[in-house]
Amino acid sequence: MSAKNASFTDVETIRKRARMHMEAGAVTEGYSADRATVLKVLNETLATEIVCVLRYKRHYYMASGIHAKSIAAEFLEHANEEQGHADQIATRIVQLGGAPDLSPDGLSSRAHSEYSEGSDLVQMIEEDLVAERIAIDTYREIIQYLGNDDPTTRRMLETILASEEEHAEDLSTMLQQLGKKGEPPSEKLRASRAKL
Ligand SMILES: [Fe+2]
Ligand SMILES: [Fe+2]
Repeated sequence: MSAKNASFTDVETIRKRARMHMEAGAVTEGYSADRATVLKVLNETLATEIVCVLRYKRHYYMASGIHAKSIAAEFLEHANEEQGHADQIATRIVQLGGAPDLSPDGLSSRAHSEYSEGSDLVQMIEEDLVAERIAIDTYREIIQYLGNDDPTTRRMLETILASEEEHAEDLSTMLQQLGKKGEPPSEKLRASRAKL
């Protein structure tokens, strides 16, 4: 049986490299991803999360107003989790030497998902499900793009992706509980399904 060929950079070279460009912080010479692209994509992801926070908050207050307490609580939980995702992404952007774009100008055009208000509970849940499905597909694509070039960003997005999949699952369950199981989905949901 032949031993696996392992070639590691020698300690001296690693030490020398680490001392050069210390101002680059966590970004070392071994970082092989295209940093400008990663930062751009992460800022779009950050915008997506913030739009999701705002949409879930809106839905939380509106559902509270129509006395749908358990659904409102679910919306609030999702809003808080999206905020957590936004914080993780902003932290990573800074680690990579970038700056988180938190400008309200152009926020919705930077985001992948939309801010849709929805006029009743079912529509709100459907809009949230559409947004989650967009996030799931976009994040999966970014994860594939990152591959082994930036494993830290990739792992972070993998964790966030798993959370968005849980959100989508929660929303589907809510639709079923509202008796929407088996009914034809609304136009918008159908369009999103066809696209993905
Ligand atoms: Fe999220
Ligand atoms: Fe989500």
